[in-house]
Amino acid sequence: MALTTQQLIQWKQQGRQIVALTAWDYAIAQLLDLAGVDLILVGDSMAVVLGYETTLPITLEEMLYHAKAVRRGVKRALIVVDLPFLTYQESIQQAINSAGRALKEAGAQAVKLEGGYPAMIETITRLVQAGIPVMGHVGLTPQSVHQIGLRQQGKTETTRERILQEAIALEQAGVFSIVLEHIPADLALQITQKLSIPTIGIGAGPHCDGQVLVTSDVIGLSEKHPPFAKVYTNLRDTITKAVQDYSVEVRERKFPE
Ligand code: KIV
Ligand code: NA
Repeated sequence: MALTTQQLIQWKQQGRQIVALTAWDYAIAQLLDLAGVDLILVGDSMAVVLGYETTLPITLEEMLYHAKAVRRGVKRALIVVDLPFLTYQESIQQAINSAGRALKEAGAQAVKLEGGYPAMIETITRLVQAGIPVMGHVGLTPQSVHQIGLRQQGKTETTRERILQEAIALEQAGVFSIVLEHIPADLALQITQKLSIPTIGIGAGPHCDGQVLVTSDVIGLSEKHPPFAKVYTNLRDTITKAVQDYSVEVRERKFPE
């Protein structure tokens, strides 16, 4: 049975952790779904598997193309699609149009937008009113890399308070969940206790209602990964070895037999 945003909110009340990972194509999405991942994010972090330096260049068309492939591989997990940089910040109309395409064309169940500043709260309020489930994202927001870098956020009293208030405003705007990225664990705990919707942490310590990582980091496909990522297997080495073995066998006429 396909999971819903309402179920994930219930899991928070029941103390059940939410398992989330990113996916960018049919094969990866299918493996994640069959392994029981609850929430699959078509994150703009797929920039790394497309060879971009940051998440900024990804277009809505690229996101939708990949989201459609993910959709075809998933039966159970909730699919959330990131709206890429400058496809929702311009106006409420632009955000409704972009989010609408993610739901109508790609079959996503929700979209994720970065930021909890007043104009974004207004935009998200309108999306939710229009019937579009929204996931928030505060702390380190990689689409603002040229302003804030990729450093941990919420280290000072002022920025801690700002992030907490953004999370509260996002809940009031109607988001079903919020990603907390690269903030101190005690701040993530404070936000998690304050909100009735689930927090999904990445580099935010163990006290969130769920965790998300970038799958290419988890499986060792990324060239580099952030300090908080855990690499569970090294696919770069595995693939290199397989390709080298194949190359040797072809050159030595051992394959095919
Ligand atoms: O794009 C992404 O992978 C994300 C996660 C890090 C939350 O936004
Ligand atoms: Na993202």
